[in-house]
Amino acid sequence: MKVLVLFGSPRKKYTYELTKAFLEGLEKDTEVEFIDTTKLNISHCKGCNYCLKEMKCIIKDDMEDILNKIEDADMIVLSSPVYFGTVTSFLKVLIDRCQPLYNKRFVLKVEDKIKKKGVLIFTAGGKNKKMIDSMNLVAKFFMLSCGAELVNTIYCLNTDEVGLDKEALQRAYITSKSIL
Ligand SMILES: Cc1cc2nc3c(=O)[nH]c(=O)nc-3n(C[C@H](O)[C@H](O)[C@H](O)COP(=O)(O)O)c2cc1C
Repeated sequence: MKVLVLFGSPRKKYTYELTKAFLEGLEKDTEVEFIDTTKLNISHCKGCNYCLKEMKCIIKDDMEDILNKIEDADMIVLSSPVYFGTVTSFLKVLIDRCQPLYNKRFVLKVEDKIKKKGVLIFTAGGKNKKMIDSMNLVAKFFMLSCGAELVNTIYCLNTDEVGLDKEALQRAYITSKSIL
């Protein structure tokens, strides 16, 4: 079982702690690759549609490796704080560059099986529950393009006022124990 974590916070704080709790609950023999996307060199998608014909991206950067790792993984964990109602820009750039996966699946239809599991982990500074819908929507669509079903969302709201609550950490740990 290979778990690929795409981590998108520029700080190693709340979202990182929540993600760590999730990873600690996984079975000991699980192969985990943690990728700090804030350290990567990923250019923006230019919408050139090269991938519509070639099923790969024309841009040569760190995304080549990420696309291979996504294909290889059994589980994808998307981990981000909420920034303006969505994932951070580090992850948004990465998600846009998954257009070759989207085209392969939904336009060229050379792949249709949903074989992977997807997990969303996020923290939000405010209490607004609409953040849950908005993060889930982005994650669901991203996961489907990767051939994954979003099976769980682990989150903690209101971090700006009260930090990360213990219950959220517990939920993250318990969820990963029961997920595989
Ligand atoms: C640029 C920026 C935008 C943010 N936008 C939102 C938002 O739309 N909704 C919200 O609830 N919190 C928002 N926050 C607060 C963060 O989601 C919150 O502090 C989060 O827990 C930080 O996670 P981290 O410790 O992993 O960086 C924003 C913070 C920043 C810096």
